[in-house]
Amino acid sequence: MSHRDIGWSSRSFSRRQALACLAGLAATAMPVRSGQAEVASGRTVRSGLQEIFLTASAADHNFWADSGPATGMLAYDGKVPGPVLRVKQGRPLRVTLHNRLEDDTTIHWHGIRLPNAMDGVPGLTQPPVHSGEAFVYEFSPPDAGTFWYHPHANSLQQQGRGLAGVLIVEEDSPPAVDRDIHWVLTDWRLDDERQIVGGFGNPMEAGMAGRIGSLVSINGNFRQQEAFHDGEIVRLRLINACLARIMRLDFSRYNPIVIAIDGQPCDPHVPVDGRVLLGPAMRVDLILSMNGRPGRLYAIRDDFYPALSYDLSGFVCIGSLSRGRAPGDIGQWSLPRNPLPEPDLAAAARIGITIQGGMMGGMGGMMGTASSNAAWAINGSSMTGDGHAGMRPLATLERHRTYHLSISNDTAWWHPMHLHGLSFLVLKKNGESVPHRKWADTVLLAPRDLVEIAFVADNPGDWMFHCHVTDHQKSGLMTVLRIT
Ligand code: C2O
Ligand code: CU
Ligand code: CU
Repeated sequence: MSHRDIGWSSRSFSRRQALACLAGLAATAMPVRSGQAEVASGRTVRSGLQEIFLTASAADHNFWADSGPATGMLAYDGKVPGPVLRVKQGRPLRVTLHNRLEDDTTIHWHGIRLPNAMDGVPGLTQPPVHSGEAFVYEFSPPDAGTFWYHPHANSLQQQGRGLAGVLIVEEDSPPAVDRDIHWVLTDWRLDDERQIVGGFGNPMEAGMAGRIGSLVSINGNFRQQEAFHDGEIVRLRLINACLARIMRLDFSRYNPIVIAIDGQPCDPHVPVDGRVLLGPAMRVDLILSMNGRPGRLYAIRDDFYPALSYDLSGFVCIGSLSRGRAPGDIGQWSLPRNPLPEPDLAAAARIGITIQGGMMGGMGGMMGTASSNAAWAINGSSMTGDGHAGMRPLATLERHRTYHLSISNDTAWWHPMHLHGLSFLVLKKNGESVPHRKWADTVLLAPRDLVEIAFVADNPGDWMFHCHVTDHQKSGLMTVLRIT
């Protein structure tokens, strides 16, 4: 990193960050020495400050965990998905990212309400981290819950080739379950040699549903079999880390209770039909009452795309608890609220957002009838590309004021719309109140949906608001909200 770059965001750089950048420039050997102790990559120090080191680099990964060929990928610490970061709510966290990729990168802490300079958007909130450099992210995650991290530079390729991981911010007193597990769900396109198929960002896909892979992994494994005992109560954290694939997962066998959405507690409730709808970047925490016969495998069906439903390799019963528990009253699973400011709807300022563009019609039938380079737009303007530099805000929001956004999807496609830096309350869908007090950072809009959300603009900075179908984002479906 040049001195000019450091100066570029000098306000947000601590001396340590500047040193890390210089260290990166000098390509020093790792592990890096922290304040008192030498810390191995990825380890958390239990002394107040939580210190983590992540290296992004090329890596080989075997999705089948067999003796067959590995897939050439990009990974954090050589792992696909990246290491699970488990941290404490409200305690300072420091993550040093070392870029050993050939490309610029950053880390975005998806869903975390953090200072703008730590948001990981190159050109907007920080300079890009060039190959061979390092960057230090420092923040104290204010909310407990299930979050994730991924690059915000050349995201189609970088995330699409493996860079993503889960970030769990632990509750002070987590609910009493027998197991707390997470599934990072990701789809891939692999060729016969098990290598990732190129062609990222082709305009035809970008104007339609985006790049949907043909194979879905759980935590980087196509044959993941999650062991359980009959009678166990499991907390399952689902993370959709796909570039474009939407899922509707059938957990009806296990009497699922939704306890959190996008990391934020909701009123515990049973999802409609026992199925969980999960767009790209969305997370849901479930309480499941496991049941089954020892030795049997229970797949999880995903039937979102009606013609393409498939079984996700899922749970395997390995025995039964001598004393199984009943899930009991649903209300007991209510998680402690995070410190989110409550929107003042009566005093809210209103903003209208219209999503436009894409090819017309539903899946199939429209090929050849629309231009193959259909782009997307928000309120008539398309911001494209990856650099994010020079993005002008769609609106400037007054700090501490409540905003009520009406987002209307004037397209024939689904869009998981994501706001950085804040969580919002989902108020209404197509005029009807949304129950269970659902806070979110990503809201999924079906074609022609009108969704209303509200939040208090308490976090100053330039925050991206974009579709998390990465092809859509790249081809115009993104903008910036400025909070002053
Ligand atoms: Cu997870 Cu701007 O994204
Ligand atoms: Cu985000
Ligand atoms: Cu979209």
